[in-house]
Amino acid sequence: MADRFEQRWNDYSAEHHHIWRTLFHRQEQILANRACPEFIAGVAGLGVAADGIPDFRRLDEVLYAATRWTIAAVPGLVPDDVFFEHLANRRFPATCFIRSAAQLDYLQEPDVFHDIFGHVPMLMNPVFGDYMQAYGQGGLKALHLGSLERLARLYWYTVEFGLVATPRGPRIYGSGIVSSKGESVYCLESPTPNRLLFDLPRVMRTRYRIDSFQQSYFLIESFEKLFAATQPDFTPYYEATRQLPDIEPDEVLAGDVVLQRGNA
Ligand code: PHE
Ligand code: CO
Repeated sequence: MADRFEQRWNDYSAEHHHIWRTLFHRQEQILANRACPEFIAGVAGLGVAADGIPDFRRLDEVLYAATRWTIAAVPGLVPDDVFFEHLANRRFPATCFIRSAAQLDYLQEPDVFHDIFGHVPMLMNPVFGDYMQAYGQGGLKALHLGSLERLARLYWYTVEFGLVATPRGPRIYGSGIVSSKGESVYCLESPTPNRLLFDLPRVMRTRYRIDSFQQSYFLIESFEKLFAATQPDFTPYYEATRQLPDIEPDEVLAGDVVLQRGNA
């Protein structure tokens, strides 16, 4: 591909790398007892991520050796079909720009810190890597079936904002949480949001907010269980949920397994 977008790592300034390091060290502290062991192992395994904004070519060597994933540099949000096509081929689309010093705590669009620090450590895990590829394949199918909104909610409440049970209590694996200073504490420790046991058709019906911390988080029991739950053909789920109303982000239903009922 002659017109392939590239990271241009040499164009980053000292200030850009400084912002990365600030974010990295801050999250490393916060996440020590909050992120799941798979995420922590992924960060350690990547190694190259502590010094500054990583060169995607160096990350690729480590990542490909671990799980045969690579990173595809993209200029920003890409169309759905392009996004799914990348995932289905074990390429993670990552933005290259880094947030400004004024946006350290929160920004709404993904930057290189969110995409790389947030997502790539989990791609070092074989089960999660397979889940992401299956998601890409499922995305291409959902596009044809007109069920993208349902499938996107699964991504949101797992890949971006998921919690996983561990012997030491709930831990974070969602990329949107691990890359956010405030939300990595809030999602586990605040009495405000609901924490509910993951249920696939339920999650598919649940709307979400992109402009504030989440009002509900879904806990999976393990990555193996998440992967197993998402193996069946989703076509019947899409059909079944089409008749049912959406669920609001803060709603708790009679059938939910509630770990914490939020007080919002
Ligand atoms: N089994 C899903 C389908 O039929 C594919 C998928 C796998 C979707 C994993 C999401 C996550 O669409
Ligand atoms: Co993301």
